[in-house]
Amino acid sequence: MKALVLSGGSGTRLRPFSYSMPKQLIPIANKPVLEHVLENVRDLGVTEVGMIVGGWAQQIEAVIGDGSRLGVRVTYIPQEQPLGLAHCVQLARPFLGDDDFVMYLGDNMLPDGVAGIAEEFATHRPDAHVVVHKVPDPRAFGVVELDSEGRVTRLVEKPREPRSDLALIGVYFFTAAVHRAVRAIRPSARGELEITDALQWMLTHGGAIRASEYDGYWKDTGRAEDVLECNRRLLEQLRPGLVGEVDRRTEIDGRVVVEEGARVVRSRIEGPTIIGAGSVVEDSHVGPGTSVGRGCVLRDTRIAESIVLDGASITSVPDLYGSLIGRNAVVGASARHRLVVGDHTRIEVAA
Ligand code: G1P
Repeated sequence: MKALVLSGGSGTRLRPFSYSMPKQLIPIANKPVLEHVLENVRDLGVTEVGMIVGGWAQQIEAVIGDGSRLGVRVTYIPQEQPLGLAHCVQLARPFLGDDDFVMYLGDNMLPDGVAGIAEEFATHRPDAHVVVHKVPDPRAFGVVELDSEGRVTRLVEKPREPRSDLALIGVYFFTAAVHRAVRAIRPSARGELEITDALQWMLTHGGAIRASEYDGYWKDTGRAEDVLECNRRLLEQLRPGLVGEVDRRTEIDGRVVVEEGARVVRSRIEGPTIIGAGSVVEDSHVGPGTSVGRGCVLRDTRIAESIVLDGASITSVPDLYGSLIGRNAVVGASARHRLVVGDHTRIEVAA
């Protein structure tokens, strides 16, 4: 089996981050979402990965490279315009050949893995096998209807009136039967070739589609809130370890990682929290639920339930919470609120 990982999307819901980086590279527990995805793919025993990339191809390639660091071999497949998930399958045909493959959206986190579902697919080998999850409001998703035996009977992309609460959640298993379907369908109202429509086409033309419900933790990391929540969740599974320097006046409480070359002085680090390589934390209280990236400086600051990206510095801020601080951002104190704020940035000042 091969894998097709989709990392072409732009991520407007994650502005301003998506102005300067692809959403797939947002770090969760100090590792880009895309690395979590590739590790999940590798855990299925899949090593041949085709990766669809759009305008952010360079940054993605700079981080992921040929994939060998993550135990996979990545072939980049450029997509000039985001014309839909089924379009991605069309573009990947030369890479995929007639092999079975798992298609994985590069911004979806399924940390509990899909190995059981992959096994089910391999055992029954229907034309396609989809992964579904019950969601409170299915209208934003592809929605799957099942018969009493659990066979898929209908799939609709973002229905106004959903007839089930089972949403497609970004992982799909396919045989080569999908290629005829992605060539047969027409663009949807939003101008995209929808994979949901390709699946429905397969059904209509006598294909067999199975569905499995994923019952682990799932998050589409589309919005800042989702990123923070997912970060908290992954931090809770961290294996604690203090490799960097922690002075005697620092108090470490709970699940804490201090990476190589980091220095923590006269501070309190409350787990689950990770302090990235080469970062300096002084006279601060960090955590719980906080990831500090590489090369950051935190002084005289209190921060919790937050993500600080590489190279950022925070000085004398007494109560930061639920924050996402971008790469090389500078946050400091002053007698009045002084802001240099980029486009589509969101700031909430304690009143
Ligand atoms: C896409 C699919 C949709 C699926 C969703 C999962 O939606 O079209 O069927 O439920 O991913 O995240 P999009 O994110 O393109 O709106």
